[in-house]
Amino acid sequence: MASGVKAYSNGKNKNIRLYVCKDYEALSKKAALIVAAQVNTKPESVLGLATGSSPVGMYKELIKLCKEGSVDFSKVCSYNLDEYFPIEPTNDQSYRYFMNENLFYGINIPLDCTHVPKGNAADIKKEAADYDRAVANAGGIDLQVLGIGGNGHIGFNEPTDTFILPTHVVDLKEDTIKANARFFASIDDVPKRAISMGIGTIFAAHSIVLIASGKAKAKAIKDTLEANVNPQVPASILQLHQNVYVVIDEEAASLLNEYKPE
Ligand code: F6R
Repeated sequence: MASGVKAYSNGKNKNIRLYVCKDYEALSKKAALIVAAQVNTKPESVLGLATGSSPVGMYKELIKLCKEGSVDFSKVCSYNLDEYFPIEPTNDQSYRYFMNENLFYGINIPLDCTHVPKGNAADIKKEAADYDRAVANAGGIDLQVLGIGGNGHIGFNEPTDTFILPTHVVDLKEDTIKANARFFASIDDVPKRAISMGIGTIFAAHSIVLIASGKAKAKAIKDTLEANVNPQVPASILQLHQNVYVVIDEEAASLLNEYKPE
């Protein structure tokens, strides 16, 4: 066990291994070790990847591990969760650009084996269907990395009345557009739609690592692990998955009451 990491389990969700880490640095290292172990066990792994601030430390750690020869991504391929629409991949706000800068350029993964939904596709609905087919043709996702929104969203799967299963086009909510405006020159520049893996695409992954840090995520983590499974908390579906790691810091764990030290 890495230092500053405590392992927990509970009777209800034996399939979920919860690691509570001292801080963001410790959780980034722990999550990176899970990804590296996956790739070292199966060099031709298919990874599902996320953008956002949560995985940035883990990606830095993976770059370090790769440069020192502890993990080799040369046979790995990857599929990202989501992308804005419409957006060009060269736009510095695109998730493709983010992945290139924060991970792909720093490791030895062949760039043509990395996949991010095409935010500039002429037919975005076809792109969504093609994306699920491509994931299936690659043999499915071995390990999916997830962040989580303060409202329990995963990918761009926001709280709804039913789980949306396949990769699909999303009309972004006004709140999300406002929240994302901080990254753009003006709110009018924020794309109004996105393409996202669906809950079914995510759930089909063989294993999943969810990472979260900070107080702002504590309620979402509590609802994900302790509320009844329901589409108003999209991440709660993970309670039904067979192989989930939840790697969080003490602040994100601060509202949990059901988990006990292993
Ligand atoms: C990113 C993604 C989102 C983020 C979530 C948390 O590809 O799909 O669901 O994981 O919004 O974002 P951060 O990590 O920035 O708090």
